[in-house]
Amino acid sequence: MRKDYSPVPLDPAHLEQDPFLQFAKWFDQALEFEQMEANAMIVSTCDLSLRPSSRVVLLKSYSREGFVFFTNYHSKKGRDLTANPNISLLFFWPATMRQVRIEGRAHKAEEAISEEYFSGRPRESKASSALSRQSEPLFEKEQFNDNVKNLIESDQEILRPTHWGGYVVVPVSFEFWQGGIGRAHDRYLYKKGPKGWNISPLYP
Ligand SMILES: Cc1cc2nc3c(=O)[nH]c(=O)nc-3n(C[C@H](O)[C@H](O)[C@H](O)COP(=O)(O)O)c2cc1C
Repeated sequence: MRKDYSPVPLDPAHLEQDPFLQFAKWFDQALEFEQMEANAMIVSTCDLSLRPSSRVVLLKSYSREGFVFFTNYHSKKGRDLTANPNISLLFFWPATMRQVRIEGRAHKAEEAISEEYFSGRPRESKASSALSRQSEPLFEKEQFNDNVKNLIESDQEILRPTHWGGYVVVPVSFEFWQGGIGRAHDRYLYKKGPKGWNISPLYP
């Protein structure tokens, strides 16, 4: 498992001052070099008892407004975020030996955004999202599968349930980690200050 990485060191002279631009640069390279789901990110939330939990979701879009993913608002993560909107996103891109950590706060996306995304989904995904009680115990899996199948095969229009939609994560910090040869890893932390983003290198 232990190997030396031979990626390009993260030269501070080439670091974007704007973390969204730095993210865009790395994300585009991840899309090019990663074999699978470069947009998969680990989302961590924390409930009111301060117990953290993590799961993978797919990043569907990002802009200066925030990072957007879609889910069931009644799910475990949805319940956590209602109680505590603090959230962290983590990308691991092994092909380029990079990690990006983003911390911030999540709010629900505008209905129109969720509506637009849902309407473009395949009918199978729509049916599953419409009928799934995500994160609740499932005792009758066959019944659920039959219901999904019947809905897919019906003529019925599948509408977005109001408990399904997007979250927008507004970052307060980014950390870019570049694995280096001989464990000489580079790390840069961007923190949002009153006058913009402050960048500091971190010990590896
Ligand atoms: C590659 C991958 C992509 C996933 N994408 C999503 C997603 O975009 N939205 C989502 O709700 N769940 C997604 N999941 C499922 C979640 O990891 C998780 O099982 C589900 O959201 C329930 O999480 P919760 O109980 O913590 O709320 C994905 C899982 C994997 C492995």
